[in-house]
Amino acid sequence: MASDPQNYDLLIIGAGPGGYVAAIRAAQLGLNVACLEEASALGGTCLRIGCIPSKALLESSQRYREAREKLAAHGVLAGEVRLDLETMLRRKDQIVTTLTKGVDALFKKNKITRYLGHGKLTGPGRVGVENQGQSHELRAKWILIATGSKPATLPGVTLDGERISASTEALSYQAVPGHLVVIGAGYIGLELGSVWRRLGSQVTILEFLDRILPGMDAEIAAEAKKIFERQGMQFRLGCKVSGARVEKDRCLVEIEGQEPVASDRVLVAVGRTPHTDNLGLESVGIKLDKKGFIPVNQHFGTIAEGVYAIGDVIVGPMLAHKAEEEGVACVEYLATGGGHVNYDAIAGVVYTEPEIASVGKTEEQLKEMGVGYRKGTFPFRANARARTLNQMEGWVKVLADAKTDRILGVHILGPHAGDLINEAATAIAFGASSEDLARTCHVHPTLGEAMREASMAVAGRALNV
Ligand code: NAI
Repeated sequence: MASDPQNYDLLIIGAGPGGYVAAIRAAQLGLNVACLEEASALGGTCLRIGCIPSKALLESSQRYREAREKLAAHGVLAGEVRLDLETMLRRKDQIVTTLTKGVDALFKKNKITRYLGHGKLTGPGRVGVENQGQSHELRAKWILIATGSKPATLPGVTLDGERISASTEALSYQAVPGHLVVIGAGYIGLELGSVWRRLGSQVTILEFLDRILPGMDAEIAAEAKKIFERQGMQFRLGCKVSGARVEKDRCLVEIEGQEPVASDRVLVAVGRTPHTDNLGLESVGIKLDKKGFIPVNQHFGTIAEGVYAIGDVIVGPMLAHKAEEEGVACVEYLATGGGHVNYDAIAGVVYTEPEIASVGKTEEQLKEMGVGYRKGTFPFRANARARTLNQMEGWVKVLADAKTDRILGVHILGPHAGDLINEAATAIAFGASSEDLARTCHVHPTLGEAMREASMAVAGRALNV
């Protein structure tokens, strides 16, 4: 243990899900830990301006849509349903405040020292902290960079933080835009596009590729697009956006070879880039790779001795739970010599309605890898619980190795897909076969039975279709 309070075993830069979870795990393992964060609230992008506020708005906007369009089917006749956007936004902000304060409490409970300010490496084992013109230096045996990512920008598109903006602003529009143009049909574009569509905006999503959700199962992405179109979202695929500007009282988005599109607001959601600005990486000899990521070895160690990196600043999916896994594995390695992340078992979820969830390999990836597979699918329209919920869109797809039956991928479009996928991730983590899932008794009536039936379908023996 270090005796000098400003000389730590581990100093973590960034208190997002990667950094704050790593801090807690390190403290549990007996390390003297400090965490440095430049934002006044802990929790990072995920808690403050990402996953959590977007899920709060997705939930509220879905209630609004259901009250207007879906309750009558249940025999519930509501009076005039009106939107109180101010309350909806305030509820979202309160959830964020409660959760970020929860991280403060966890830091106190685990005796993690918290510093407010911008951290910059100044040499091996040293980090300068700058806060409102004041600066001081901290020392640590190990430094963990967990500074996350920031929205990617597009050439020709200047974000004005008002009419043309990234996701942060789209979580707090003070009025429902008449027409919202979203650039990018990825996770953020579809989730925030859904929120504002449900609240009444005309939503046009411009996507560079010829499909939505690149990287996700193609069949599921194509079906999801049809469902979103039925919800009123408009898609224009194969659009290369070359510029966007505000002209008088409207925004104009320029598309290569096509007429510009006019709108009230523009949301730019074309991916995220690692956040390494002004981190002093050069002081310890770290060079970024071509895409701006910090190169690391299998233990998350950088080229600089004692300097580690996890989460969105290193390669891999930019997901909060991936960062958490890496943070825990990294500090377990430092404290005990062992620590491991199973990247095959890291799922991704798009929290639209219905939700889209995916873990392991897609059919496209298996074909590319030349791996033989068998496929079982089961539609939610044949699942009793989905019928009672009146949410019958979509299906579960299980992909199993043709020779060994080991589950290689599971892809779900349907109600609560984001919760259902955890069973698939557990199955993959334990090396389960499709027969293992097929022979596991699942509670009736539950949505999870669709997972079991899709596993049975791999061997051509689904019962309810
Ligand atoms: P994304 O990578 O999911 O999607 C960006 C989309 O923009 C792609 O479809 C891409 O083809 C398109 N695009 C790129 N350049 C374009 C151009 N010039 N014109 C038109 N389209 C263009 O990125 P997104 O949605 O911004 O999300 C960023 C990150 O945040 C992702 O890595 C995601 O994993 C994470 N995230 C995760 C969420 C979740 O777990 N539910 C929710 C939101 C974000």
